[in-house]
This record gives sequence, C-alpha cells and structure tokens, in this order.
Amino acid sequence: MLQKLEQAQEAFEKKREQVNPQYKPAWHLSVPAGWLNDPNGFCFYRGKLHLFYQYHPYDSVWGSMHWGHWTSDDLIHWQEQPVAMAPDTPADEGGVFSGTALVDGDRLYLVYTGVTKPDERGRSLQQQCIAQSDDGIHVQKWLDNPVIGKECLPEGSCPYDFRDPKIQRMTRGYRLIVASKGSSGGQLICFRSDDMKHWTYTGVYVDHMGSMTECPDAFEISKKNVSIFSIIPNDEDRSPDFKSVVYMVGHEENDRLVSSGKPEPVDWGMDFYAPQTTCAPDGRRLMVGWALSWGHVMPTHTLGHGWAGMMSMIHELDLDRNGKLCHKPLRELKALRRNERRLTGVTISNETILPAFSGDKQELMLDIDMKEAESFTLHLLKTQEEAFIIHYDKARNLLRADRSQCGYPLTMDGSAEQMPFCEAPVPLKDGHLELHVFVDVSIVEIFADEGRKVLTSLAFPKGKDAAVSVSASGNAYIEQMTAWRLA
Ligand code: FRU
Repeated sequence: MLQKLEQAQEAFEKKREQVNPQYKPAWHLSVPAGWLNDPNGFCFYRGKLHLFYQYHPYDSVWGSMHWGHWTSDDLIHWQEQPVAMAPDTPADEGGVFSGTALVDGDRLYLVYTGVTKPDERGRSLQQQCIAQSDDGIHVQKWLDNPVIGKECLPEGSCPYDFRDPKIQRMTRGYRLIVASKGSSGGQLICFRSDDMKHWTYTGVYVDHMGSMTECPDAFEISKKNVSIFSIIPNDEDRSPDFKSVVYMVGHEENDRLVSSGKPEPVDWGMDFYAPQTTCAPDGRRLMVGWALSWGHVMPTHTLGHGWAGMMSMIHELDLDRNGKLCHKPLRELKALRRNERRLTGVTISNETILPAFSGDKQELMLDIDMKEAESFTLHLLKTQEEAFIIHYDKARNLLRADRSQCGYPLTMDGSAEQMPFCEAPVPLKDGHLELHVFVDVSIVEIFADEGRKVLTSLAFPKGKDAAVSVSASGNAYIEQMTAWRLA
C-alpha cells in the first residue's frame, strides 16, 4: 500500500524543482507541482487548519487522483504536508475522489469517494470510503471500505455518478450527504449511521439540479440551514449566465432541505468551483474553493510550467437580513498588509494611470461616488497592450470583470475564450460603488454589494508592469481608494 504513496511523494519532491514560478500566486495556495482541483477535508484539528486537495502528482493535468495536504497555524501561512492518500486499494484504485473531514473525539475521519478500476465497458463504480488519522498527517484507510457501495443506493440512482460525501455529526449518529444522479437528474441524497460503518439511505436532500451535482456542503448559520453545491448543467441549461456553484437556504425536514427560494450563485466569477466550508473555533463559517472550473485550461499547463491549480482565498460567510449569503475576505489577511497608499477626493474622467498603485500582489479598497458618472473602469495588471478590466455600468447596475485583453486565454489551444468575462448585478449604495479587490499575480477576486457578490477569476498577463489605472464616463469622484501590498 505504501508504495504508491511513496511514489507520489517522490514525484512531489522531484517535480517541484522543475516548476516555472512566473504565475505562482504569493499568498494563495497553489499546487507545488502537478495538478490540483477541489479542496478536500477542510477542517480544524488539533489546533491547526487542515486543507487537503484533489491532487495529481505526475502531470499538470487531471489524472489519477490522490489527496495532497497543507496545514496552517494562523490561517494565512501554510505548511506543505506529505501526500495523504494515493489510489492504492481495490476500493479506490481508480482514484481517491473528493470528500470531507470530521473530527470526532481525538480522531480525524476523512470520508471520500473511492473510484474502482474501469470495467470492460470503461465504467468505474463510485463508492463511499473512510480513512482515519490520529496525528492529522498519517492517514489509514479502513479495511472494510467501501462503507457505502452500490447496493445501498435507492432505485434509479446511478452507481457511476455517486460521489463527494459531506459528513456531519448529528445529535444521534452521523449523516452523509452525497452527490448523485437520479432519474430526474442531479440530486443530493442522505445516509445515516450510528457507527460510521453501517449506513442506511434516508432520503433526497435536494433534487432536480442539472444533469449531476458535485461537492455538497451543508451547515447552519443563524439557525438556518444552508447548502452549497456545484452543478453540471443539462445541455439546455448551458448559457452564458449559468453559474455552477449555488447555495440554498431553508430548513430541514426528515433529511430534506425545504427552501422557498431558488438556488443563488455563490460566486459570480469565471473560476470558482467545488467549495468546502468549515467552522472556525471562534464560530466563523470559512469557505475555500478551487479557483478554476472544468472546461478551462490554465496556461501554466500549456506553457509547460509544471503546475496547474490554486485555491481561492478563504472567505468568511454569513447571511444578511434577507437570507442572502454574504462573503468577507478572511480577516487574518490584514496581517499581510504592507505599504499603504491612499487617494482621496479626486474626480476622474479620462483614463489616469496611478503609478503609486501599481503591483501584482495587492489589496485595493475603492469608494467611488457615481452620482455624476455613467460608468467607472479600473484596470489592473496593466501593460501597454493588456489589462484586466473591472467595469461598472450604472444604467444596468452591472459589474463586469473582463480578462479578454489580459494575456493568455484559458483554452487548450490558445484560441480566444468563448466567454472571457463575467458579470454580477451590483446596486449602488447611496450613489456609491464600493469595491474590495485582491490581486495575486494570476488571480483577481472582487467583493462587491457589501459581500453579496464575489467574482473570482484567473488572469495570465504576458507583461510584468502590473500598472493600475482608473477612468469613467462622466465624472466619477474617488471618495477614497486605498491599496496595500500583500506580502
Ligand atoms: C469536482 C469533481 C468531483 C470529484 C473530483 C475528481 O470538481 O469532479 O465531483 O470527486 O472532482 O477529481
């Protein structure tokens, strides 16, 4: 069993030396070498924050899935840990897919999807498995895996699309919420157990979601039940407006989420998928996502840089008065602020470069009075030819992030992207546009509408100037613009 894990660790050490760091973010987590997708097993255990991840050590594309691992003492500085799991048992030799963590007593449990080797028709079973650890580093898979095999599935559920268990401790026993494909398409289904070994199907948590759901999460905020999950759309649902990660708020009745509202986007950007949350010791609900989505290719792969995959920054989640999800940047990030610069009371119309504000590892806070302006534009990562464009259109109340003029496209063959921009409805607040923007070399995260809208997107500028400019049609009044270098 150890052999595959050791091989993966060797590849990890060797490949990282060959990585080209040009587009490596400074304070976001990126895979040391190889490929990363979903966050896994996000939890606090023995005083540390743990973040595991879907990891392919051998190439910068998706492949045989392992679990990589980081830990942090302060939520902002991270230590790399040995590869936690490799696909090395009959239950998971086709891949150790996504899953979640539960701390129960002194022990850490990791519940994940084991994928079997493909059968003669190329189909692999997806079944739920458990591993445990007593030190948070060395992980032992249970010998009786899978604990939920295809025989436990309700009628009509597809055993080849049954993955990404979310484990929860309940008043009595344990519950798993798992993504599945039923006769009506994507759904989340529940199982209960008293001992984590024997599981019984207990019902449909959420139904009718695209062709398949992925990576469910479920938690409580202010006594309301919130569920976040990712959706693979039906062909007819594929539209430019489709957002693949959504949340629902409601209450639970017999392992069903009863919600009066429709699913709402969690992130409005181009690159955010499969988020997980955990509860911090101080009660904050923290979320992290994979900063890419299926169908996009990171130029770090096509350029042969030896790595592809990073995490979003960590968000703090809350619900507003109307039950809408509100995000705040992780407050610990303030400790990274250096070199404060500030601009106040300036009216902008023509494009103005702000030399003091340039930088590719930055936090920017803007408060723009839009009463005399029709639109406002902020250019980031700007060179003579390029810019990542953040544009606000007052008439449509629409915020747009556009990377079409910012270096390499996120396509395999370097052709233009179909939709190199994203938009979110953002109302003004007393005539003001307030933006909180984070740039870290190749990722831009925008918080707007008091945290109700977040847009997470990657960008790979060819030039290195990272200039910043502002412009407006009409007269935009910069009430305040503050920037910090984050280091
Ligand atoms: C989501 C996902 C999961 C699966 C994993 C495989 O991005 O497709 O459903 O467990 O990635 O790497």
